[in-house]
Amino acid sequence: MIREIITYPNKLLREKSVDVELFDEHLHTLLDDMYETMIAYKGVGLAAIQVGIKENVLIISVPNEEDEQDKESTIEAINPIITHKDGLQLFVEGCLSVPGFNEEVKRAEHIVVEYQDRFGNKQTMEADEFLAVAWQHEMEHLEGHLFIEKLSLNKRKKFEKEYKKFMKTKKL
Ligand code: CO
Repeated sequence: MIREIITYPNKLLREKSVDVELFDEHLHTLLDDMYETMIAYKGVGLAAIQVGIKENVLIISVPNEEDEQDKESTIEAINPIITHKDGLQLFVEGCLSVPGFNEEVKRAEHIVVEYQDRFGNKQTMEADEFLAVAWQHEMEHLEGHLFIEKLSLNKRKKFEKEYKKFMKTKKL
C-alpha cells in the first residue's frame, strides 16, 4: 500500500526514531509499503519517519544500469549504526519530504554501517560515493534531521522563500 509522505515543515520530521524490537508482520508490512511508496514517489531512499512511523527503519534503492529499482536489491535496514566514516564528498541531494528542492551537501566519502535485516539478522555494509550519501541522508532522518539544516544561512533563507512559493503552487 502506498502511504502518504509527510513534508517539511511537519514537526514529526524533527523527532528522533526509536529502535525496532519486534521483527514481525507489522515491520514487514511497513517495509513493503515503504518500497511501494518510494517507487511511486520516484525516490531512491525512504526513512519510516517520512511516512509518519517513528522507528529506526530505512530503505535504499540505487537504480541499476537499466534504471530499475528491484525490490530484491533494495537495502532494508533496521536499527542502523554508522561504525566508521572517512573522507569527504559533495553531492547534490534532494528529499521526498522537501519536494522541488535540490542542493549540494558535504558528507563522508566512505562509511561502514551495521544494521539488522527484516528478520533481525545482523548485517554489515561498506558504502562509498552515492550509496554512502544515501545511507547518511536516510540515517539523518532517523535522528530527526533534514539535509536542508546543512545549508549556509544565505542558502537556507533562499530555500525557505522558494519552498513556500513552491508549496503554494502545489496546493492550487
Ligand atoms: Co530525505
